[in-house]
Amino acid sequence: RPDGPVRRAVRHSGSLLVDNIGELVTNSPGGAGGPLGLRRDVALLVEDGLVGWIGPARDAPAADRRIDAAGAAVLPGFVDSHAHLVFAGDRAAEFAARMAGEPYTGGGIRTTVGATRAASDDELRATVQRLHTEAMRQGTTTIEIKSGYGLTVADEARSLRIAAEFTDDTTFLGAHVVPAEYADRPDDYVGMVCGPMLAAAAPYARWIDVFCERGAFDVDHARAILACGQAVGLGVRVHANQLGPGPGVQLGVELGAASVDHCTHLTDADIDALAESSTVATLLPGAEFSTRSPYPDARRLLDAGVTVALATDCNPGSSYTSSMPFCIALAVREMRMTPAEAVWAATAGGAAALRRDDVGRLRPGARADLMILDAPSHLHLAYRPGVPLIRQVLHNGVPQ
Ligand code: NIG
Ligand code: FE
Repeated sequence: RPDGPVRRAVRHSGSLLVDNIGELVTNSPGGAGGPLGLRRDVALLVEDGLVGWIGPARDAPAADRRIDAAGAAVLPGFVDSHAHLVFAGDRAAEFAARMAGEPYTGGGIRTTVGATRAASDDELRATVQRLHTEAMRQGTTTIEIKSGYGLTVADEARSLRIAAEFTDDTTFLGAHVVPAEYADRPDDYVGMVCGPMLAAAAPYARWIDVFCERGAFDVDHARAILACGQAVGLGVRVHANQLGPGPGVQLGVELGAASVDHCTHLTDADIDALAESSTVATLLPGAEFSTRSPYPDARRLLDAGVTVALATDCNPGSSYTSSMPFCIALAVREMRMTPAEAVWAATAGGAAALRRDDVGRLRPGARADLMILDAPSHLHLAYRPGVPLIRQVLHNGVPQ
């Protein structure tokens, strides 16, 4: 990638000790801490924006500053690996109609495309800023941001340019739907996505994604678009099997996708394919909540050995939430995940879905991205749904 987004400088100001941690979720298994790598009564030292040391509170080194966690739980920051934040307008009326019985079809995407094309750069940037801040307040320290509501060369490129101001994990989703002006010539649209649109988008993108679904892109178009993105160095992700069973999951596995997302309608063959691959299944329960759809059965995936991530899918149509704690609560209540599995999926799982090892875990050398809860245990994230439990967030070691 010749001109990728500039890596955000790690900000730091001396060392910082987070002391009196009652329960630390490290996600570094081994020992008695179980899959979350739980440690009790520890302290964590931040140096140069990274975790420098973790150990018993009584052995804590001196530091320039100190935060007293007062016995609370500390977790890695959430890694929200699927969000569509670059858009204009909202679709509250569409949501109300759904709650009165209308089905979700994805048809409303074109409404948001119209509003997004009409918005200025500053309006789009202000929306991303607002949602990014909202997410960070709820513990999210890494977020993927997709384009996909521009669907012209210029509007996709500017969506990604704005997204890259907020994250390194930018995703080109020019193949979200076929826009109205190409409705009767989808082959031409696919050619445009693979040609000038990809050329304009790729400098700002790390990933490419396709909505592979009836009514959006069929498997041949999806394969062609993802292959073009791979050829210019983008990693693959797929919106797959959201509205019904289909080929998206197996296409993602075939192409070595980092993640296939939604996975609401899976066959046994889909699960077998995932289990034999390194592709993560990213579940988006906010979408099932807001479209009143049946939830995917995470237990089937976990029991088969598939790596599962949880993400918000934050967008104005199918899931207008930026809250990872809300998704954790839904996953536990509706998708047969344990609280520990859901917390892992929202942190280390999201990192796996973005193929990152610098976030999602707390161990020396990892980014000091973490949250202090207003609760003694990670269990409270699911146990106390809807309650603002995030007391403090550190991003790159800096209190937010
Ligand atoms: O992930 N499924 C496709 N895209 C979004 C929804 C977009 C919309 O309805 O605006 C999703 O759910
Ligand atoms: Fe999505």
